[in-house]
Amino acid sequence: MEKINLVIEKALGTVSRETVFGLQDKAAKGMEQLHQGTGQGNDFLGWLNLPSEISDADLTEIETAARNLQSRCEIVVVIGIGGSYLGAKAVIEAMSNGFEHLRKQHNAPIVLFAGQNIGEDYLYELQDLLTDKQFGIVVISKSGTTTEPAIAFRLLKEQLEKQVGKEEAGCRIIAVTDAAKGALRKLADTEGYKTFVIADNVGGRFSVLTPVGLLPIAIAGFDIRALVAGACDMQKACGADVPFEQNPAMLYAATRNALYQAGKKTEILVNFNPKLHYFAEWWKQLYGESEGKEHLGIFPAAVDFTTDLHSMGQWIQEGERTIFETVLSVKEMQHKVTIPTDSDNLDGLNYLAGKRVDEVNKMAELGTQIAHVDGGVPNIKIEIPALTERYLGQLIYFFEKACGISGYILDVNPFNQPGVEAYKRNMFALLNKPGYEAESKAIRERL
Ligand code: PA5
Repeated sequence: MEKINLVIEKALGTVSRETVFGLQDKAAKGMEQLHQGTGQGNDFLGWLNLPSEISDADLTEIETAARNLQSRCEIVVVIGIGGSYLGAKAVIEAMSNGFEHLRKQHNAPIVLFAGQNIGEDYLYELQDLLTDKQFGIVVISKSGTTTEPAIAFRLLKEQLEKQVGKEEAGCRIIAVTDAAKGALRKLADTEGYKTFVIADNVGGRFSVLTPVGLLPIAIAGFDIRALVAGACDMQKACGADVPFEQNPAMLYAATRNALYQAGKKTEILVNFNPKLHYFAEWWKQLYGESEGKEHLGIFPAAVDFTTDLHSMGQWIQEGERTIFETVLSVKEMQHKVTIPTDSDNLDGLNYLAGKRVDEVNKMAELGTQIAHVDGGVPNIKIEIPALTERYLGQLIYFFEKACGISGYILDVNPFNQPGVEAYKRNMFALLNKPGYEAESKAIRERL
């Protein structure tokens, strides 16, 4: 089976091969900490062997639940935020026809998202759209207590029950949450919803290969078995028994840390394919929440090229030299579009006639790489044979494994996110949530 391929040569200039290989021992230690469970956050390592541990029965249960919703619904709203949102969104966007929602016929329900913001207009417009639609809901929250999805679920549950009655609504709602804890678990058990469990030892941003990601992806009509098979490919390729120089997760983790130590504080994940926009959003959460702590960590940013070459391109080419790029380079497109000849050639484009659009894109990619490397921006490339479930599964596991190793090289706990609580405490205090009386008083005195 062909695999995604990591290329670090164009990053070697700012840092030498010796410097990257100088982190070999730290990467090996990180690998050992992951596999022996001896590092910080070792109660959140359930993702490590997840691909090979998912059983056929697990996948069948997810596919069956997905088929049930597919048969009842034209739209399924997936409610969740952060790790309970981004993985599914990333894979569905990468695999979908970009104009699917505007087509008249669909092979599977349109999957929409809610609870990933508290936008009143967003919720109004979504509810307005759903008034004359057959819709269902997948509500996802590991803690079962997160405010954003809880608000969206309260609204959409009420709407669904009004539109189809409580009994049918109960058949169209699936909850993915903790086995025992949290308000969502209590609610789901009381209402008798179908539920899937998120294991205690899998953190939100590492949960795309659990029902959190797999259920919405299956509902959208994509092959979750191929996705998991791809993750299995990388579980092997990034295994503890694979030497450093052949182990993409260790090499990527070491290269980005070497660049960070050399003053490259921002990593920009670049794509030349708009379908990967949300994959970058998933990646930003994975690395941002895992490494950004103790006043350390590479800042994960993302751009869509060539679109952003016309906005951020100037900064990347000539701004402060504190950045490096990691490019997601997709080899084969799914479709062919050839540039036509025009007898008048008023636009001067006949020199491109007969070429595929992707050939132009690939030359833009190569030209950009040369320009940015010349401009002092080190370049890591990840070659992806095509946008398929299998290669996306490979990419997901590769980034997860590298993230664990990279966090340990940095010497932080890659599996917690204590900083996420600060805004919540203030918000609850400002909203006078019961139990926050002292915080409410204190914060009001500061206003
Ligand atoms: O990575 C994380 O843990 C977070 O981003 C969570 O996924 C996010 O806050 C949502 O939490 P929950 O699934 O408990 O609603």
